Amino acid sequence: MALKHQAPRGTRDLLPDELARWQWVERQATAVMTRYGYGEIRTPMFEDYELFARTSGESSDVVQKEMYRFKDLKGRDLALRPEGTAPVARAYLEHAMSGRGKIHRLWYMGPMFRYGRPQKGRYREFYQIGAEIIGTQAPAADIEMIALFVDLFEAWGFKDLAVAVNSLGTPESRRAHGEKLREWLAPVRDRLSADSQRRLETNPLRVLDTKDPEEIAILTGEKGGLPPWPRMLDALQGDALAHWKEVLTGLEALGIRHEIDHGLVRGLDYYTLTAFEVHDRSLGPGQSALGGGGRYDGLIESLGGPGTPGVGFSIGLDRVVLVLEQRGFDPGAHRCDVYVVSMESTREAALKLVRELRREFAVDVDLESRAFSAQMKAAGKSGAHWMVLVGEDEWKRGQVALKDLADGTQSTVGLEELHAALRGKEPVKEKATPWW
Ligand code: HAM
Repeated sequence: MALKHQAPRGTRDLLPDELARWQWVERQATAVMTRYGYGEIRTPMFEDYELFARTSGESSDVVQKEMYRFKDLKGRDLALRPEGTAPVARAYLEHAMSGRGKIHRLWYMGPMFRYGRPQKGRYREFYQIGAEIIGTQAPAADIEMIALFVDLFEAWGFKDLAVAVNSLGTPESRRAHGEKLREWLAPVRDRLSADSQRRLETNPLRVLDTKDPEEIAILTGEKGGLPPWPRMLDALQGDALAHWKEVLTGLEALGIRHEIDHGLVRGLDYYTLTAFEVHDRSLGPGQSALGGGGRYDGLIESLGGPGTPGVGFSIGLDRVVLVLEQRGFDPGAHRCDVYVVSMESTREAALKLVRELRREFAVDVDLESRAFSAQMKAAGKSGAHWMVLVGEDEWKRGQVALKDLADGTQSTVGLEELHAALRGKEPVKEKATPWW
């Protein structure tokens, strides 16, 4: 019989085996965020549609094509969040956080929703972890953000990452650069896709973000003989240029490997100045970005707040987990420490003991009152270090049999010593970092 219901296209269930890897990734990340002194923030999974339309930008794919927009029963215009920065900025304003200190360091983790074409590494429901510093224009904030970004990847065992960096300038320098881009693209305009021709009008920078191999060949000059594209960095002046130079100097000082990528434009419209990304080629050209971010000094003002600068990033956890899986990383799901086996006459006593032991250990027990031999077999397969046998005679004497399933040795211990005996065997330690 065909299944009546399946998870909606672009979404998926994460089952316990897979979640062991996810939880490991999340634990490492939480620890890094905590050491950096960031506070966690959780915002709703849906918001007013307008919040995203106004900030992500009417010319971005996210707003144009990928928004899960819906009306609720009272006709409110809402959207499942496609990203986390605009919600954090909204919360910052709503709770008047500027009154509680100038600079706020925040992080978040959770599902985001974009109606794209699902494929490996691209989902309609996906998970991000992100961080934001709100309230300072200092280049040191950009540098800290990039350091945190890289340190998260290092905590997950990614080595030798190079962060791609660029400066998207100020709205003025971007307008000037946009004009140059239009002039530069004029000779090949007719050969560009309808999407790119539209972008050429609304936001020429976005043309550089094309994933179409034909167009990429035109833009790189491989086809059509265009000269090298006008670089955004060449349009930087004054404070924007000084900011960029300070960020580069800071990255050098911290020994953070980085490469300037003149084609790095980001997919959302709120960015100003510094922008950065990290890619993993094994994921395929359209979804190779593991994470990205940058400065957004105009975003909070565009939401009606006072001019408040910000900088941040998000990382796609689905892609991080996928790469770890491809590399064969298994954090060693720790299932149970102890398996308790009982007889019909000691069953209730055993269940009481299980509850008691579960205050300290991971304990498994048969729920179906199966035969002793079936329980023994299950204990063997469980991966537990210890088997505790609750036999009738021993129990009457206040004792249980304790078997070390690793070396097969068995002893009888009094209930008062049981905890200490179980503690004596260190459970398998979670690997701190992958081994490659
Ligand atoms: P973004 O570049 O749109 O930035 O997304 C960040 C990351 O989310 C991507 O690099 C990718 O790993 C992951 N991602 C995006 N779409 C999908 C998808 N459909 N399936 C799986 N993973 C996906 C932002 O969202 C900004 N809020 C980052 C930011 C924070 N900028 C400043 N602060």
